[in-house]
Amino acid sequence: MVKQKERRPGQKAAGGPATKPRRDAPGKPPARAAQPGKPTLAVRDGGDRTAQARDAAPVSAVIERPLIARTGERPVERVPVILESLGAGDFHLIDMGNGLKLEQYGPYRIVRPEAQALWPPSLPAHVWDNADSVFTGDTDEDGMGRWRFPRQALGETWPLQLLGVDFLGRFTAFRHVGVFPEQIVHWAWMKEQAEAAKRPLKVLNLFGYTGVASLVAAAAGAEVTHVDASKKAIGWARENQALGRMEKLPIRWICEDAMKFILREERRGSKYDIILTDPPKFGRGPNGEVWHLFEHLPSMLDICREILSPQALGLVLTAYSIRASFYSIHELMRETMRGAGGAVESGELVIREAGLDGKTPGRALSTSLFSRWVPK
Ligand SMILES: C[S@@+](CC[C@H](N)C(=O)[O-])C[C@H]1O[C@@H](n2cnc3c(N)ncnc32)[C@H](O)[C@@H]1O
Repeated sequence: MVKQKERRPGQKAAGGPATKPRRDAPGKPPARAAQPGKPTLAVRDGGDRTAQARDAAPVSAVIERPLIARTGERPVERVPVILESLGAGDFHLIDMGNGLKLEQYGPYRIVRPEAQALWPPSLPAHVWDNADSVFTGDTDEDGMGRWRFPRQALGETWPLQLLGVDFLGRFTAFRHVGVFPEQIVHWAWMKEQAEAAKRPLKVLNLFGYTGVASLVAAAAGAEVTHVDASKKAIGWARENQALGRMEKLPIRWICEDAMKFILREERRGSKYDIILTDPPKFGRGPNGEVWHLFEHLPSMLDICREILSPQALGLVLTAYSIRASFYSIHELMRETMRGAGGAVESGELVIREAGLDGKTPGRALSTSLFSRWVPK
């Protein structure tokens, strides 16, 4: 069970895995020594040091893997692509305004901070006042806080459904509830691919969190490998699998540093038809391995390309809470996929307000950047 005091996925926890520091936190990840013309990948292993020592000092076992020099044409580009969702299943965004958003998650209306909602709310105050749960606390994207239940005390978890898959919503101390609904568009796309394929697709879900995407893929007939550094997140994902009675579906749950895992898969010659990767800006593997998006993303994509099968159907990257244009990941994806043909489409994932009824389109909320390579 993930307790309410659980940290935000990817965030720093004393002795815990998959950490991500606050923006103002000391002890930034160690910078990789730049070697012009010779890009390398540094995967650092904390060995058996204590978490404190791990946080304070650079760690041992630096694995170096040069980037592969790619030749051939870059894939054609489709930009900007705005992948928009009006919600699905038990989720929709009701209203936004004054730095807050009001969302429907199954039976509950939830208020959470939303820094981008600079405009006034559309709905009257009594609708907001009637919310079931309100997150109060640090307004920083990654900040900790508390849940207030203005109507009646609620349990820690409740059942939800999305794209036909059951999972548990959970009030975590980092404002998240166990699903990032902006991903629905990628998951719906992946579901279509898996259902249309005449064979079980092999899907790799990196930074897979509570496993909703893994369950969607498996339910559509794919063989899924789910990787996340957090034991708690993997535990929650397994709970979700049990909730939907999906234990028999072929999902490998792997608690490991994503980079270490894909490096090993490359050495073994493993191949995947679809790779989803949704890395945080900063995180840590179970043994203190540092993940830093701006340092490691080129290597991650380079390795992902190597483990795409010859009949691959897509490599989907999402990037959230980073200060960058979608062009930064778009051009990286096109360079990485040189000579592979196909197309790279990139832009933003957007959730549109859907009103109280979940059907009335309103204003748009941008949530992440994305870039995906597809063979056609
Ligand atoms: C935002 S979540 C991904 C959300 C997921 N794509 C979804 O929509 O459900 C980021 C995840 O990355 C994991 N993580 C952070 N650092 C990691 C690392 N080095 N290796 C593997 N997973 C890591 C965290 O535990 C967290 O579950």
